[in-house]
Amino acid sequence: MTAASAIRSPLTLLIGAAAITAVAAAGWMFWPAASSGRADPTDAGQVALGEAVYKASCASCHGANLEGQPDWRIRKPDGRLPAPPHDETGHTWHHPDQQLFRITKLGLKPPLAPEGYQSDMPAFGGVLPDDEIWAVLAFIKSRWPSKVLARQPSPNKGKGQK
Ligand code: HEC
Repeated sequence: MTAASAIRSPLTLLIGAAAITAVAAAGWMFWPAASSGRADPTDAGQVALGEAVYKASCASCHGANLEGQPDWRIRKPDGRLPAPPHDETGHTWHHPDQQLFRITKLGLKPPLAPEGYQSDMPAFGGVLPDDEIWAVLAFIKSRWPSKVLARQPSPNKGKGQK
């Protein structure tokens, strides 16, 4: 190794590290909020926060035990659907996390539902911060048996994304 290359290498490394940092910082800033979070059912802290959020904001419709409203598949006289269960008997687990996040944050409006679709599911954007929405999803997922958790589509599989 020559003296010159010995000097150049650390400098090259330094420039490389700076470039990676810059890319990471830019990625963090421009990444849409919906993609930056995660719902980890094995993270006890996130699940505990999510349980509190669930009790305060979701249980009144989706049930204290995630059981949903009675006859949740049958439209009410006003044409709207009752709140479905979030446990393994419902279809929450048929959707990838990103889609559950968007439904909870934006409500069932286009592009998540057809134009003019009437739903009693509120949009929680502006009510709950993103990290509380991710936490409540972590709590919901923590209640699924591991078999159901394993069958939930992930965005990487490209299934169920709208
Ligand atoms: C005022 C009642 C109400 C509250 C409160 C409520 N929901 Fe809902 N939710 C509904 C109804 C009704 C539906 C079904 C809507 C439809 O299909 O038209 C629904 C559907 C959903 C779905 C879609 C489920 C699926 O299988 O497609 C998700 C996810 C969801 N709610 C999450 C939440 C979360 C998380 C909270 C708490 C932060 C919450 N909801 C609070 C009424 C409610």
